Amino acid sequence: MSDAIATYIDAHKARFVDELQEFLRFPSVSAQRSHDPDCLACAQWLQKHFADLGLDCTLEDQGGQPIVVARKKGKSDKRVVIYGHYDVQPEDPIDQWKTQPFEPVIKDEIIYARGATDDKGQLLAHVKAVEALLKTEGELPCEIIFMLEGEEESGGDALGRYVRGPGSELKPDAVVISDGDMYDETTPAITYGLRGIITFEVTVKGPGFDLHSGAYGGAVANPAMMLVQLLSQCATQDGHIKIPGFYDAVRPIPDWEAENIRSLNFDDQVILRDTQSPTLHGETEYNTLERLWARPTFEINGIYGGYQGQHSKTIIPSQATAKISVRLVPDQSPEQIRDLIFGYLRSISPDSVTLELEFTGGGPPVVYDVTTDTMQAAQAALKSGFDAEAKFIRTGGSIPVVSTFSDQWNCPVILMGLGLDSDGPHSPNEHFSLKNFYKGIKASVDLFRRMGS
Ligand code: BES
Ligand code: ZN
Repeated sequence: MSDAIATYIDAHKARFVDELQEFLRFPSVSAQRSHDPDCLACAQWLQKHFADLGLDCTLEDQGGQPIVVARKKGKSDKRVVIYGHYDVQPEDPIDQWKTQPFEPVIKDEIIYARGATDDKGQLLAHVKAVEALLKTEGELPCEIIFMLEGEEESGGDALGRYVRGPGSELKPDAVVISDGDMYDETTPAITYGLRGIITFEVTVKGPGFDLHSGAYGGAVANPAMMLVQLLSQCATQDGHIKIPGFYDAVRPIPDWEAENIRSLNFDDQVILRDTQSPTLHGETEYNTLERLWARPTFEINGIYGGYQGQHSKTIIPSQATAKISVRLVPDQSPEQIRDLIFGYLRSISPDSVTLELEFTGGGPPVVYDVTTDTMQAAQAALKSGFDAEAKFIRTGGSIPVVSTFSDQWNCPVILMGLGLDSDGPHSPNEHFSLKNFYKGIKASVDLFRRMGS
């Protein structure tokens, strides 16, 4: 990296952090309609930021939250699309936060706020890389197009519609994404696989209204009991999914990958420490990274129904609901798995209750070839930014639109996460390392240069 760029980045760090704080103050929670104005304001803040840097920026309307598209030509004809998301997960449970979720606080070079790592801090690193290039060299090494969506965290498909529609002719030479993990605090990583996902809600309805559980218990079905019974027929206690046909399309873990996983020497204690869980859990025939990266799961994200207040209330609730997410791996298809699960739940649900199933979103899994020139370029760029060799990892998380990039454009996708699972994405006290923010800016500059040449 030229000294001028590194000097620019070092000299402007403090302002970059001020800007990150401004960005984090928007409560851009895409799951809740009451936050629609905040999502819009956040997108407008990005638009102004890009315009001030000299990029052409529009807010694209594909229904749902606005998509921020910002572009500028470069010295070469090569084109890079940078993806990120400006929406965040709901902040609750608010009483578990030590500071306010939308009032960022910095302590020991770590910034605390909802969205700090997922994904505002990570995506801003690329924006600041573009700024550093423009301010020191006056031009970009390649054309850059930012595509930043506002409904990644709520399963929306607005960006997918844009990429399949008006954005389809913007096929780049590569898509670059920082919305994930490093290997550890000082070791960068290239993520070559994401799990897919489907999310849905199951509602079990029984009597027309809540009933006295003594007057009617034994005579009519209890929807909350029925809900847990139905769900317990979906997976065993160690997490193996019991739905017939569920594993039919699951690709076995190839030898090279099992070997790569072994060579990472992953220490299970890290998860015990980071999560404060009593023990690890899951299918016993797979090691932890295999379970996280290459095996599907069935999870309850929330479950409610009946009396939640103080002390007891003896009722049969009229209904109960669970919010479910199912993580998928190659070659499982979200649509097929949805149909399979919905069909199974309907087939085991008794006539004493009615079942309502609502699909709320999802996207397919992806795995990429790690041996390509683009992956080598990304590895070299990370080395230059972080002064450490990048490892190849997969992740258990999902970014639904990524498969649309691959399907639509058939181009390389570089996932270079700057965060850590222990940053607490989706958890209270989410945070992001500012040291890795600065290193990420440098790695991004280096990558754009390599892409331009
Ligand atoms: N940044 C995450 C995806 C991720 C998680 C990457 C962990 C690497 C490690 C992303 O913002 C996310 O949380 N996606 C959702 C998608 C869902 C709401 C459809 C997810 O994975 O739950
Ligand atoms: Zn997320």
